[in-house]
Amino acid sequence: MIPNSNLMHKPIRCLITAGPTREFIDPVRFISNPSSGKMGYALAEAALKRGWEVDLVSGPVSISAPKGVECCSVVSGQEMYEACEQRFPQCDILIMCAAVMDMRPKKIFKEKQKKDSIEWSVEFEPVIDILKTLSIQKSQQLLVGFAAETTNIEAYAQKKLREKNLDWIVANNVSTPGAGFESDNNKVILYSNTGKVEPFGPKSKLDIATDILNCIVP
Ligand code: PMT
Repeated sequence: MIPNSNLMHKPIRCLITAGPTREFIDPVRFISNPSSGKMGYALAEAALKRGWEVDLVSGPVSISAPKGVECCSVVSGQEMYEACEQRFPQCDILIMCAAVMDMRPKKIFKEKQKKDSIEWSVEFEPVIDILKTLSIQKSQQLLVGFAAETTNIEAYAQKKLREKNLDWIVANNVSTPGAGFESDNNKVILYSNTGKVEPFGPKSKLDIATDILNCIVP
């Protein structure tokens, strides 16, 4: 159960993040990752189907937000943080499905760098950890993170569950063929901070999203 008695009387408000973030090096180059937004948008659709109010904060993707969600488009990790921070106090559940870039170039060039004068090495600095920062401001919210891993899936997911002070973490082995980034299907394992373990899939991202929501709010 969500630790908020008011939920009996008002619709659940769910804040979901989706897609990648981009960190620019110059006006025409950036670093990012292959997130398509499909998993996060499926969560938004499943949440709407349950009658929840949905705030979707999305990085750049080429799919459309489900009708009925309040969608806010962002590009960088800092922009995603600011959009989430603004919406976090009003939400009952935060699900961070976005693949936020952990690092950004220390120096952003104002003009396109020319090939013959380009700096071939880029120095990076950390991007704010959105989930960890918001978990410190948590009052009644249920916090759900994702862990995109390629090795030691359970150990790394459990570490993120503890270190980011989450209620649930969705471990996603992104090296499984036909699951993870860009795929229409997924296969995940949910871990709770009380020791529950719930595997789901392989199945469509919408079915996985429905399973996740049924699991966190039975
Ligand atoms: O978009 P798709 O193509 O459908 O792919 C879905 C997905 C693979 C992106 C998704 O299922 C997934 O695993 N999302 C999490 C990706 C990720 O960034 O994982 P992480 O292990 O690096 O981060 C752990 C958690 O911290 C995540 O909830 C992440 O949103 C959050 N985070 C990460 C970095 C950061 N600076 N701030 C954060 O809040």
